[in-house]
Amino acid sequence: MKRTRIAEILSSENSGTHITVMGWVRTRRDSKGGFSFIEVNDGSCLSSLQVIAADKLPNYENEILKLQTGCSVKIAGALVASPGKGQKIELQADEIEVLGWADPDTYPLQKKRHSFEFLRTIAHLRPRTNTFGAVARIRNAMSQAIHAFFQGKGFIYLHTPIITGSDCEGAGEMFKVTAFNLDEIPKKDGLVDFGRDFFHGPANLTVSGQLEAEIYALAMGDVYTFGPTFRAENSNTSRHLAEFWMVEPEMAFCDLEGDRTLAVEFLKYIFGYVLENCEEDMVFFNRFIDSSVIDTLETLVAQDFEYLTYTEGVKILSEAKEKFEFPVSWGMDLQSEHERYLCEKVFNKPVVLTDYPKEIKAFYMKLNEDKKTVRAMDVLVPKIGEIIGGSQREDDHDILVERIKEAGLNPDDYWWYLELRKFGSVPHAGFGLGFERLIQFITGLANIRDVIPFPRTPGNVSF
Ligand code: 4AD
Ligand code: MG
Repeated sequence: MKRTRIAEILSSENSGTHITVMGWVRTRRDSKGGFSFIEVNDGSCLSSLQVIAADKLPNYENEILKLQTGCSVKIAGALVASPGKGQKIELQADEIEVLGWADPDTYPLQKKRHSFEFLRTIAHLRPRTNTFGAVARIRNAMSQAIHAFFQGKGFIYLHTPIITGSDCEGAGEMFKVTAFNLDEIPKKDGLVDFGRDFFHGPANLTVSGQLEAEIYALAMGDVYTFGPTFRAENSNTSRHLAEFWMVEPEMAFCDLEGDRTLAVEFLKYIFGYVLENCEEDMVFFNRFIDSSVIDTLETLVAQDFEYLTYTEGVKILSEAKEKFEFPVSWGMDLQSEHERYLCEKVFNKPVVLTDYPKEIKAFYMKLNEDKKTVRAMDVLVPKIGEIIGGSQREDDHDILVERIKEAGLNPDDYWWYLELRKFGSVPHAGFGLGFERLIQFITGLANIRDVIPFPRTPGNVSF
């Protein structure tokens, strides 16, 4: 079935050409002059193509006058300059074949505004709406941009495992993977006998590809991963998913300053790429979702971010007049209200906070000389808070053993990670970007469930 995509038609506007278009009817309007206007969308771009169907078509009375929102059609005809307002080109149909009907009494996606909450219940149909089509195209373009950015810098794209035996973040928020019959789990001394499970030991879905990325960085220099990660944290917020995508570069011969420079350059590249390549969809988000998104991205491409330490940030927050739900003191983990206050009220731009207290950060981060803080960095943005978490890694074997123990973990479980510090250890650093949070920031969509095709959250695993 040869077809021309509507995106291609609208970008070249070649009137006179004969083409075949396939897609889904958005609306049909009948004119008294003996023809109908049909808006057809095929998902290749936001705009629909206007089709003119004359009453001389053999199936005009029987089929075309019965076309409704959601029907699928195959239309052959000639492109002509459009006399009407709103489009430069339209398709004069020679032949319209109805591929599939959609009963208007039962098709849930009628031509009107639906709430995002409702659309989440019909995730099999929501990509046919303007918003979710635009999100899917932006996700696609951003994925392309991520690879282009790192490939352009000579980074190696690394596939890290989805099933692992280690807990990267040491936070224990993991989904277990087992082949046991859950009704008859083998036990030994009252505990689960993982030795008899598929992997002969406990296994879980990865929370981060970082530890494996470090292995490859310490052989190949610069690597990055881009894949799904899983967290069994029971946080029902507009910024948390149980399954989300993370981009994780890891660089050998690199310290925290190098890491921070890369993170900022990376974000600016993605912003610039989206502005340049997703204009139609960005204009849509700017008009219907958040009227500041284009302006914000344009400003950020040109402007530097704000850099300060955790200690400086806490000082600003504790002197602020704002009443926070969680009072601020040195040593606490910052809440998103604090992160947003710094970005939105104090600096009015993204903020990179570094050097957090070691107690609130993962065991692998490099200890500073003060022995109290670690070489951590979080990139915080307005409206969302943290979108990137990264650090320089601890490259000293003995200090790392201590940090693992302090975190209540067993150094034996991290034997290979420790060996990397025994044999040819080098300073290295990296970060993790939450892909969905970046899409939220770029599109202005308030809920993370609306920037991933099939969100997984507590209580939700449908589709
Ligand atoms: O700060 P996090 O936990 O960092 C790591 O996992 C490191 N191992 C990364 C590294 O250094 N290679 O997570 C990184 C980012 C966060 O800043 C956030 O944007 C996103 O991942 N993130 C989530 N996104 C959606 N839902 C969740 N539950 C998320 N948890 C973290
Ligand atoms: Mg973090």
